[in-house]
Amino acid sequence: MNPKKIEELAFRVVGDMGSAFTMALGYIGDRLGIFKAMAGAGPVSSVELARKTGLNERYVREWLRAMVAAEYIDYDEQSGRYVMTDEQAFVLANEDSPMFVGGSFHFTTPSIWNVPKIMDAFRNGGGISYSEIGEEIPLAIERFFRPGYLHFLAKDWLGAVPGLIPRLEKGALVADVGCGCGQSTVAMGRAFPNSKVVGIDYDHRSVERAKKLAAVNGLSNVEFIRGPAHDLPRDPRFDLITSFDCIHDMVNPRGTLRIIWEALADDGVYVWSEPNASHNAHENKNPVGKAFHSISPLHCMTVSLAHNGEGLGTVIGEEGARELAREAGFSHFEKLPIPNPFNQFFALRR
Ligand SMILES: C[S@@+](CC[C@H](N)C(=O)[O-])C[C@H]1O[C@@H](n2cnc3c(N)ncnc32)[C@H](O)[C@@H]1O
Repeated sequence: MNPKKIEELAFRVVGDMGSAFTMALGYIGDRLGIFKAMAGAGPVSSVELARKTGLNERYVREWLRAMVAAEYIDYDEQSGRYVMTDEQAFVLANEDSPMFVGGSFHFTTPSIWNVPKIMDAFRNGGGISYSEIGEEIPLAIERFFRPGYLHFLAKDWLGAVPGLIPRLEKGALVADVGCGCGQSTVAMGRAFPNSKVVGIDYDHRSVERAKKLAAVNGLSNVEFIRGPAHDLPRDPRFDLITSFDCIHDMVNPRGTLRIIWEALADDGVYVWSEPNASHNAHENKNPVGKAFHSISPLHCMTVSLAHNGEGLGTVIGEEGARELAREAGFSHFEKLPIPNPFNQFFALRR
């Protein structure tokens, strides 16, 4: 046995233990509004922060100390106060920032609450359906992906498909499959007022939120269908169909891709995003790959297996997507040149 390898692995596991507990405390800071209370507040003591948030001072103090050790916030030794820098606030407290990570805290801890049920599934098969995965999960997913839709979707992601932006500006028919709480649908509707955007998702809680979001934004060119992707209208066919981070979750991803093929206009384009990783786990030994692979049995694979689905898992990679696209009948498959650490994007044509 190599003692160095033993030591490295043991340290890595202890580091992961720190990360897991830090995520739990991050969840508390996010949900109880502690991060937001610190943003722009300057140096604060635990007493002041507890008063401001209405929380117990002893818990707040211990939380602050953990956040300092995690390097999420700073500590000023001279004054004995805690401070959130502008950069830290940009990442931890500003919901509209492109780098906001509140959705990561929000998604991770409630996902881990399902571990006893997942252990049952390890023993007996099956899974946890999306409607039972936890009340917070759709909201967490919304917050996790929202920064990308808000800042990059309309310009950078769709802009990577030659000729697509002028077509959308002129007025096109768009479908957003597996639209969740509608952040991507609304972002497209807002950016392209001459286009009509139809979001479709089978989770009624998500679709209710999506409808409210469109209403708050005063959009009359966005509508939502509550139902499976199979309900996607085929007449008239769509100029653009999108699906963001949802095909791999589906019970019948191959069937959905075939429906998308049927619903796409002859000269239309299907823009499809999947987690940015290789289909080979041994090529994903990095923090992002590690996150995707561990999310898979705790969420993506299990929501599909709950309904006897295909259970593709979170990480299908470009290779998996290509194979699925070929089987669905798409003649053209291209990986778009979009630099993004979390997602890879494909453009498909009939
Ligand atoms: C990981 S979430 C992504 C949601 C959204 N695209 C986003 O980026 O926020 C996956 C979504 O796919 C939806 N979904 C899964 N299978 C579906 C199906 N067969 N038809 C419609 N929606 C489906 C789920 O309800 C869920 O909202």
